Amino acid sequence: MRIDIVSIFPEYLAPLELSLVGKAREAGIVDIRVHDLREFATDKHRSVDDTPYGGGPGMVMLPEPWGAALDAIRTSVEQPPVLVIPSPSGYQFDQEAAAEVSDIEHVVIACGRYEGIDSRVAEHYAGRDDWAGVREYSIGDYVLAGGEAAALAMVEAAVRLKPGVLGNADSAVDDSFSKVDGAALEGPVFTRPPAWRNLEVPDVLLSGDHARIDAWRRQQAEERTRARRPDLPNP
Ligand code: ADE
Repeated sequence: MRIDIVSIFPEYLAPLELSLVGKAREAGIVDIRVHDLREFATDKHRSVDDTPYGGGPGMVMLPEPWGAALDAIRTSVEQPPVLVIPSPSGYQFDQEAAAEVSDIEHVVIACGRYEGIDSRVAEHYAGRDDWAGVREYSIGDYVLAGGEAAALAMVEAAVRLKPGVLGNADSAVDDSFSKVDGAALEGPVFTRPPAWRNLEVPDVLLSGDHARIDAWRRQQAEERTRARRPDLPNP
């Protein structure tokens, strides 16, 4: 899988060298390339934004630098990529979306700042047959200062689902949100010691009775999902 990320703050994407995603890159499972949008600015001030038509607060990102950056990435590859645009106005980026993105061979992520990217950029690339579509995703119902933090979250959620990234011990099949018939959230987890600051690990987990343990975990997951996320699936 290849992921190109375009941003005016390429340093913001440095954490993608660490931890699970960093290891997946080293293992050759994902090829991540970060690009500085300003290198594609066309005027002598390297401008990337301007005031919005119709008035209103903030600035809107200019379509020209985005067109130049995205076209340059497109000419460097043979197959049509999918363009992903993080946006608080996007479709919900949930576990299902993460699984879909993890199956795409080449993803280009366009990180906007300010009030967003001129809408003609999404429209233009959605209508091109040398691109494989445009997806605008929101990572949650809050407004970030830009798409970079959302890109970090989306890349990590997608890359960890690639075969060979997680060991068997932490397989994604058990994750919250990815259960086929179970509660959406996972219940509480415990490790050694059996008592810590007067708090004890529930006896059932020390019983060795796997049927009872499974039933207890299921019940805890359902209780938690009911309390915290009544909007999510729960049998
Ligand atoms: N950019 C600003 N806020 C965002 C959000 N919630 N999700 C994705 N991109 C964003």
